[in-house]
Amino acid sequence: MKNIAVIGTGYVGLVSGAGISDFGHNVVCTDIDENKIKRLQSGEIPIYEPGLQELVSRNVQASRLSFSSNVNKSIKEADVLFIAVGTPEGENGASDLSAVLEVARAIGNNLNSYKVICTKSTVPIGTGSKISDIINKSSINSIEFDYVSNPEFLREGSAVKDFLWPDRVIIGASSSRAFDIMKNVYRPLYINETPVIETTIETAELIKYASNAFLSVKISYMNEIANMCDEIGADVHVVSKAMGIDGRISPKFLHPGPGFGGSCFPKDTKALVSMAEELGTNLKVVESAIEANRLQKERMVEKLYTLLKNDVKDKTIAILGLAFKAQTDDVRESPSVNMISALKNDGAIIKAFDPAANDNMKKIFEDLDTNTSWEETVKDSDCVIIMTEWNEFRGIDLSKLKELVKDPNLLDCRNILKIDDLEKLGFNYDNVGRKKR
Ligand code: UDX
Repeated sequence: MKNIAVIGTGYVGLVSGAGISDFGHNVVCTDIDENKIKRLQSGEIPIYEPGLQELVSRNVQASRLSFSSNVNKSIKEADVLFIAVGTPEGENGASDLSAVLEVARAIGNNLNSYKVICTKSTVPIGTGSKISDIINKSSINSIEFDYVSNPEFLREGSAVKDFLWPDRVIIGASSSRAFDIMKNVYRPLYINETPVIETTIETAELIKYASNAFLSVKISYMNEIANMCDEIGADVHVVSKAMGIDGRISPKFLHPGPGFGGSCFPKDTKALVSMAEELGTNLKVVESAIEANRLQKERMVEKLYTLLKNDVKDKTIAILGLAFKAQTDDVRESPSVNMISALKNDGAIIKAFDPAANDNMKKIFEDLDTNTSWEETVKDSDCVIIMTEWNEFRGIDLSKLKELVKDPNLLDCRNILKIDDLEKLGFNYDNVGRKKR
């Protein structure tokens, strides 16, 4: 059993810290944000993530998990340190590493015994050696440490499951001592035969970006195929189903939609392109995926305008779904932001509803009229748009919807409603690459 400190108690840090404590280690999650730590100490979970509350409570009760705003003390008492602070988008798409490098200085200043220092945050290739340099420079006693890259692949909405039952664990290190300690941290996963890739630090750093960018490319590709289906009159769901049966393609991440968003794909694709530019290599495929994604978000707006014959001024538009995907309250880079901006600009009256993200969207659009049920949102509207694939929207009773709206116009940006039912009920509808009226 190890003493572990997770520095940065945001999304990645909190889920990872709670998950590692569930593996049986003593974990302290630490953060300079005293308010956040106080909330966590009082049992409040500051983010929306299914299963997290239960995971945290279980491990706090077992005295394996605690929270502290004393970062220096937490560093001193730990055998293994996880860096999990944010790496937001900086200039020209490159990652802003200031928080990570600040933590590296704090680690150097408090290095009192051999430790494994492990980065979970997504950092550009080469950051590992920068962190090691800073620790060496700021450590007075030249105490030995090992640096490890251990990227996370958590998806918002299923992060707890992804942490406890990952597809794979990546450990990038340069000493057998560090590999052994990391294997011990993830011991329960070894017992479960989770694939563990042991590699160099740089390779581990690249694996994270290469994976996220690949998935972004896959989505953008499917979105562009869906757009072709629109023009041809083909059904993209049949196309993707048939493609996915081919084991080389796999059925996952073939679902077309309004464009990808969130805290990872948009940022990581840009960061990878920026790295490739610096290295003088080409990454045209990823550049195109980024551009295709921008166009996809615009295309949803165009679809709406076409559906309403460009007459949106003073029309009441009901937006169902604000989060960038279901099971999260995150609205970062959400296609709904583009939709709301365009409609606001053109004088539409917007009514919106998201089961979890109303408050976060109100931080972007203060005067947004948010509602607490789909029924209330669609009442007397001229058009309904599905922007997020929440289950409660999948189950909408379309006859009831038709009774509530003023005009039965509907844009399904997630392809979750049954076309046959929309047809039968006489909706004027559109979707992403399926049949159109
Ligand atoms: C992603 C990665 O999956 C995860 O491994 C990484 O650690 C962080 O980034 P996340 O951003 O939570 O996770 O969401 P994900 O479920 O991967 O979806 C990303 C975006 O792609 C969303 O906007 C989603 O709506 C979109 N998407 C996904 C599609 O449009 N179609 C699909 O088939 C799948």
